[in-house]
Amino acid sequence: MANESGGRIDTVMHESRLFPPPTEFAASALVGSLAEYEALWRRSTDDAETFWGELAKNELHWFEPFGEVLRWNEPFAEWFVGGKTNLSYNCLDVHLDTPRRDKTAIIWEGEPGDQRRLSYAELHEEVCKFANVLRSLGVGTGDVVSIYMPMVPELAIAMLACARIGAVHSIIFGGFSATAIADRNNDAKAKLQITADAGWRRGKQLPLKETVDAALEESPTVEKCVVLRRVGCDVTMREGRDFWWDELMAEASDDCPAEALDSETPLFILYTSGSTGKPKGIKHTTAGYNLYTKMTARWVFDLKEDDVYWCTADIGWITGHSYVVYGMLANGATTLMYEGAPNAPDEGRFWEIIERYGVTIFYTAPTAIRAFMKWGDDWVTKRDLSSLRLLGTVGEGINPEAWIWYHKTVGGERCPIVDTWWQTETGGIMMSPLPGAIPTKPGSCTKPMPGIVPQIVSEDGTPVDTGFGGMLVIAKPWPGMLRGIWGDNDRYRKQYWEEVPGKYLTGDNARCDADGYYWIMGRIDDVINVSGHRLSTIEVESALVSHPAVAEAAAIGRHDELKGQAVAAFVTLRSGEASEELRQELKHHVREEIGAMAVPDDVRFTNSLPKTRSGKIMRRLLRDIAEGKESVGDTTTLEDYSVLASLRSSDE
Ligand code: WT7
Repeated sequence: MANESGGRIDTVMHESRLFPPPTEFAASALVGSLAEYEALWRRSTDDAETFWGELAKNELHWFEPFGEVLRWNEPFAEWFVGGKTNLSYNCLDVHLDTPRRDKTAIIWEGEPGDQRRLSYAELHEEVCKFANVLRSLGVGTGDVVSIYMPMVPELAIAMLACARIGAVHSIIFGGFSATAIADRNNDAKAKLQITADAGWRRGKQLPLKETVDAALEESPTVEKCVVLRRVGCDVTMREGRDFWWDELMAEASDDCPAEALDSETPLFILYTSGSTGKPKGIKHTTAGYNLYTKMTARWVFDLKEDDVYWCTADIGWITGHSYVVYGMLANGATTLMYEGAPNAPDEGRFWEIIERYGVTIFYTAPTAIRAFMKWGDDWVTKRDLSSLRLLGTVGEGINPEAWIWYHKTVGGERCPIVDTWWQTETGGIMMSPLPGAIPTKPGSCTKPMPGIVPQIVSEDGTPVDTGFGGMLVIAKPWPGMLRGIWGDNDRYRKQYWEEVPGKYLTGDNARCDADGYYWIMGRIDDVINVSGHRLSTIEVESALVSHPAVAEAAAIGRHDELKGQAVAAFVTLRSGEASEELRQELKHHVREEIGAMAVPDDVRFTNSLPKTRSGKIMRRLLRDIAEGKESVGDTTTLEDYSVLASLRSSDE
């Protein structure tokens, strides 16, 4: 099937199954027919500013009204200019005088099985207290707060508290190493660190505080550190620098009115991989992000008052920011957070959680779906999943086999599937079926959100014909778009706006079929997608080369059944002998430098790397070798043919 010849693209080319929205689903949906969707989309793009302006007025609370809807000084956007609002207010305070006051905002389950529920009123109180804690530690508007925490309610509380006082959060996924934390802290000039003693993962304690201690040795801008007691293990607390969360909260007042913040107040930085070694701090701001995540959450998940919504993403990634926390709370929804692994204590954990809480909407990643398939249907079918009414995927393309399995085995053939395409940079979902309106095709993210104008262009920027692949660009600014790369306007302009002038370059290839359905064809640049998360080849290479034995390294993504792609590394040595010991040492070294998710599955030693005459590593050839394929592509630009033969015979 897939990947024998041309990879995923070939498979989807032959996909012709069409799944119309179930009649009952469409009948009660927010957008209930294709015609309605099309009218909405047309209205939204014919006069985007009126469209977004009206929504902003109706959907957000304004301390002071905005003037212009959009000030577009390409590539810099300002949305809802001059308005004053507050994201934390729009997620919490707006619900307090409504029946949602006592509605559950967050359902939480820890990996050991502990459970908590926070109503909107309780969450509001915790957020106000923690906002006062932040102030007492000297944090104010514009200060950057670095957060390295497990999936616990306090993580959401910390985010909302930052938003309440105009501090900028930079959340670092709990799998990153001390070096990676320090790099990010230094780039962002973080002032405060928040962490926990440890987190639970498959029954083991992840020593978060210990990792932070090492990171803070190299993070001179960080003055103080707040530590949540999650597991109760012993940690070292440095006098004057480190403070216990519970001790600070015990002293804090719960009176903290939300600050009236300018629409464009920076809300968060989230680091993601680009095609150079330096992580990019993607910057999002207040009002536009608030509106875009709120509206897309409502359109895509067709939220109803009694939904129990579960997105399995970690809050350390954009999916968690937008669709575990902000987009959901802005809609007054009930959002479920689970701390641990899907196979702890066994492979049935997710289905047990769905049954226990009556989850109605389930949003996860294709890599997880492939793991569920491998673990076997029994784990799924032995639970009562009849509460589910909608399923979603995100992070990478879903192969049609996995789509069909998800539809049948999890969704009982009654739940629409929303395959949502978007990026850290886009803030929210850009293309996805509206589940009551758009018939789905397995493997396609279908059609754009209201206000979004995608185009497929060739390398010279001209639109390509229907059915042909090309670069996916977005032709109009949208409220949730990134506002820049933290501290690097040049890189922002170069990376996203120069290649195709006037349009946002997504970095993905795609094609659009005759029905106007989009099919994502993977990244253009040297970025690997491991388990739905971007890793830059160059970061892995830099980590390898920083080891004294390594002269040169090339990292590529090769096909992997479970993870989508796995990292394969080709290494030439400066000194010493190739050995199993060195291979393990290099893997360990990458873990230390970046984190576990970047560790290459294969490390191959070679005498030289295939390069063009201008010295560029020919990754395409390495990919073929890593996947055990004959190179059928063009090798005429290869500088030294003998390299290929010796690479093929390199062992792994
Ligand atoms: C890249 C963005 C969006 C949150 C998680 C990842 C790939 C994402 C899909 C999808 C095909 C997808 C793209 C995109 N991607 N969703 N539904 N179908 N590809 O965020 O780390 O910023 O990665 O993930 O290549 O550009 P991210």
